Amino acid sequence: MSDKVVLAYSGGLDTSVAIKWLKEKYDLDVIALTIDVGNERDFSAIRQKALKVGAVKALVKDAKELFVNYFIFPALQADAIYEGQYPLATALSRPLMAKLLVDAALEEGASVVAHGCTGKGNDQVRFEVSVNALAPSLKIVAPAREWGMTREETIKYAERYGIPLPITLASPYSIDENLWGRSIECGVLEDPWVEPPEEAFTWTKAPTEAPNEPDYIEIGFDRGIPITIDGQKLDGVSLIRRLNELVGRHGVGRIDHVENRLVGIKSREIYEAPAAIVLLQAHQALEAMTLAKDQLRFKQKVAQEYADLIYNGLWFTSLHQDLAAYVQSSQRFVTGSVRLKLFKGSCRVVGRKSDKSLYSFGLATYDKGDVFDQSASPGFIHIWGLPVRTQAQVQGVSSLGEKLKK
Ligand code: ARG
Repeated sequence: MSDKVVLAYSGGLDTSVAIKWLKEKYDLDVIALTIDVGNERDFSAIRQKALKVGAVKALVKDAKELFVNYFIFPALQADAIYEGQYPLATALSRPLMAKLLVDAALEEGASVVAHGCTGKGNDQVRFEVSVNALAPSLKIVAPAREWGMTREETIKYAERYGIPLPITLASPYSIDENLWGRSIECGVLEDPWVEPPEEAFTWTKAPTEAPNEPDYIEIGFDRGIPITIDGQKLDGVSLIRRLNELVGRHGVGRIDHVENRLVGIKSREIYEAPAAIVLLQAHQALEAMTLAKDQLRFKQKVAQEYADLIYNGLWFTSLHQDLAAYVQSSQRFVTGSVRLKLFKGSCRVVGRKSDKSLYSFGLATYDKGDVFDQSASPGFIHIWGLPVRTQAQVQGVSSLGEKLKK
């Protein structure tokens, strides 16, 4: 009897060819596992295709809720944005997929798992580091990294074995999609000087085509988790879907970034992430109001660490657990509402409120009702400036100060 492999199956060209290839090359019976992380595909058609191509079994797993509750929302609470640009949609989905691959392999008695990543991206690292952490005894095969076929040769291989070519073959781009965003690579995008053609985008309108009237949306948060839009309570999956629509139609959510991959390459990446962009912006606005200055400063450092560890495939680590515990604790008063204005490709926070707000009108106002004791300021300045005066007297002022004196 042949050994079994669980393959992370997307229904695309590479993973379809992989079903045949794994049988040919390693005599493995393929169990295709397709994971729904909100990519809005026809999953029953994908399942049928896997079987038609030769999988002995084809599983579809709805992982949308898991993805939102255990990956997207914690990353939002952490304000995780890689290199200040990328909300990490693809990166966040990989450890979840790895976990589900491992679960399926154990359940089905397979000794091997496989994925469709090439050998020069981040995704191979994320999958394999995660699988190795969760089930070190499982073997991993990466057909597209091993077979050494060009795209043309892969198409020929598919034709030779009667594997139906996906219609998306006409698209010059490599695309990965889930609830948190759409990653677009390849084709003309590989020239970082070329403006992305309009056709690369499907979730966002061109700002020039966006409505001529602005829209306001109000997002309600409970301890850092978004729970309402315009006062209406929504589950996480629906809330993100709704926002992707509402925000994308205003041309908000496009990202164009030259990114540092873990494997050492700089690559030009285009993203569409309307809901992610708006939620991150709103969440940060609410934190600005409900966290103290030092908490905010420290949390920014944590955010960068957190983003890097997600990007670098280190989800299943103790460092992640430790940072996640900090992030959870930091969110206990991040409850309130943020109002945003969407218009022609821009999204601005125009209002925020919270019962736990640290903003005090009495302290801030220049008008009647001012409770700030201005008579205390000279003493404060005297002490605050003490080291500055001392140094200036002993060592002189900086060269800039000297120049200004002349
Ligand atoms: N550069 C992004 C990342 O590393 C997106 C990768 C997109 N993956 C893909 N198969 N098209 O997370």
